[in-house]
Amino acid sequence: MKIQKLELEFQEFEKNEDPGEHIKEMIQYAKEATKTAYAPYSLFKVGASVRLSNGEIIKGSNQENVAYPSGLCAERVALYAASSQYPYEEVESIAVTVDHHFDSEDEVFSPCGACRQVMAEIEAKSGKELEIIVHAPNGITRIFKGITQLLPFSFNNAGLNKLNK
Ligand code: THU
Repeated sequence: MKIQKLELEFQEFEKNEDPGEHIKEMIQYAKEATKTAYAPYSLFKVGASVRLSNGEIIKGSNQENVAYPSGLCAERVALYAASSQYPYEEVESIAVTVDHHFDSEDEVFSPCGACRQVMAEIEAKSGKELEIIVHAPNGITRIFKGITQLLPFSFNNAGLNKLNK
């Protein structure tokens, strides 16, 4: 038996650090998207922006439902909108942020597992590393280069392909 350890890497920018124009622009679009959130049950407003290889920016926000599981997270709203409107463009970058007051200043936000799985699919589809920008209300910005840094050991289609042969 061996204990295996895993190392993940991401960039972290403090509130007063400049992550660069492109990152700031993506966060700005994500912040705008929080305004369209429909979150009457959780009051947790999430916004996402997606940049495609043709330069288009698609925004999405969480959409809740009285039958709770019928709602959808901001990231998936944005990614599915992008993929259905521009099926042949590659998704290069996604930014996500929250308009919510946390009890603690230290609180950071992180995309849910289901959204990470969808990001993994988007990356597999394009074959290109996806940039994931997570901006928390306390001003901390994290940048992950590739979904592996957020979702290691993700399910992939290797097994599925064998079943189909
Ligand atoms: N939510 C998102 O939009 N993205 C995430 O990554 C996590 C959670 C939404 C779902 C629900 O509308 C609200 O936040 C509270 O869970």
